[in-house]
Amino acid sequence: MEETFDLKKLILQAMGARTKAYCPYSNYQVGAALLSSQGRVYPGCNLENASYGATVCAERVAFFRAVQEGEREFRAIAIVGGRKDQKIDSYAYPCGICRQVMKEFCGDDFLIIVAKSLEDYKVMTLGELLPHGFGGEQLSGA
Ligand code: THU
Repeated sequence: MEETFDLKKLILQAMGARTKAYCPYSNYQVGAALLSSQGRVYPGCNLENASYGATVCAERVAFFRAVQEGEREFRAIAIVGGRKDQKIDSYAYPCGICRQVMKEFCGDDFLIIVAKSLEDYKVMTLGELLPHGFGGEQLSGA
């Protein structure tokens, strides 16, 4: 797939965000870098809480930061995740709640990049990861 943005740079930014992860309970560090249609990048890391359910994923931190800055349209997100002090050996696919948050602001062609390294990554679309998702259009007329 031909990209019009620097995919490796976005992965690098997700790796940078991951270093900020606050995850004393799981020790699983996640970093995300969200690229807006305007070309700005919003990083996010996971933020855990002693009341576990209050934890927020890296992807949602990135989205909430971006929307708060006035962004509403997005092109891609890079995600990197793995246990603290260990080599990243698997792709960190976004959880269901994060996919639903993406669905709120992104179309089916929104790109989701999961990376183990700058050389080893997968590029998928939101349509692939959340087919037949529930969106605001279903509430119109309700
Ligand atoms: N986590 C994310 O940041 N993103 C996801 O999509 C899945 C999980 C975080 C939440 C928690 O801090 C840790 O990973 C373990 O679940």
